[in-house]
Amino acid sequence: MSGHLVLLGPPGAGKGTLAKRLSQELGFLHLSTGDVLRAEVAQGTELGRQAKEYMDRGELVPDELILAMVRSRVAGEKKVLFDGFPRTLAQARGLEEFAPVSRVVFLSLAREEVIRRLSSRRVCLQCGALYNLLTQRPREDERCDHCGVKLVQRDDDKPEVIARRYDVYERESAPLVDFYRARGLLVEVDASLPPEEVYQRVRRALS
Ligand code: AP5
Repeated sequence: MSGHLVLLGPPGAGKGTLAKRLSQELGFLHLSTGDVLRAEVAQGTELGRQAKEYMDRGELVPDELILAMVRSRVAGEKKVLFDGFPRTLAQARGLEEFAPVSRVVFLSLAREEVIRRLSSRRVCLQCGALYNLLTQRPREDERCDHCGVKLVQRDDDKPEVIARRYDVYERESAPLVDFYRARGLLVEVDASLPPEEVYQRVRRALS
């Protein structure tokens, strides 16, 4: 597949899980705005400082900060896989101006499953690997299979923040489904299926 690809879906739909594999196998530059923001927070940059207060509350970081951050990272790139971006109509319209997308995969998942999955997610801060205590189990001692460091729970995976993030998704990001469907770019995949099945369906949809 050529051109840029967007992964759209509620928090916990499996965007990051899918994006890591798709970008490796199909040669995309993987751009997760959430990962970039968490790195900025960890490094204590000015952007990280501004973003943190929104992220801790489960709110969206303002569009102008996100658009400037994305724009500077995709300049000159031919195949970008956007994970967690765009998330508002303003971001989608902004993206059209500097990097129009070829396809959008919408990973659909119900609220109860979002809450179940995110409450049991664990992440490796060293290599970024994703695990789930229910569905993609790490080793018995909850260390990363790849680098052996202790896995952690993301700050925004607390129950009250997960619920807020889902509400924000419904209000701000769900309208993007119709936005991209009207442009003939959208394919929908049922994200409640096991990871391998989700992956195979997405590959078929993109071929
Ligand atoms: P971000 O990091 O983008 O979080 P998110 O969109 O809420 O998505 P998640 O990373 O929580 O979930 P995911 O869909 O990637 O699922 P995953 O693969 O991990 O954003 C965080 C914050 O940053 C936002 O709240 C906001 O403040 C800010 N931000 C980021 N982008 C922004 C933007 N564009 N504009 C403004 N603000 C922005 O999987 C979840 C779990 O399920 C894992 O445990 C995994 O192992 C498991 N799993 C995955 N697939 C399956 C499957 N098929 N079956 C069973 N389990 C599965």
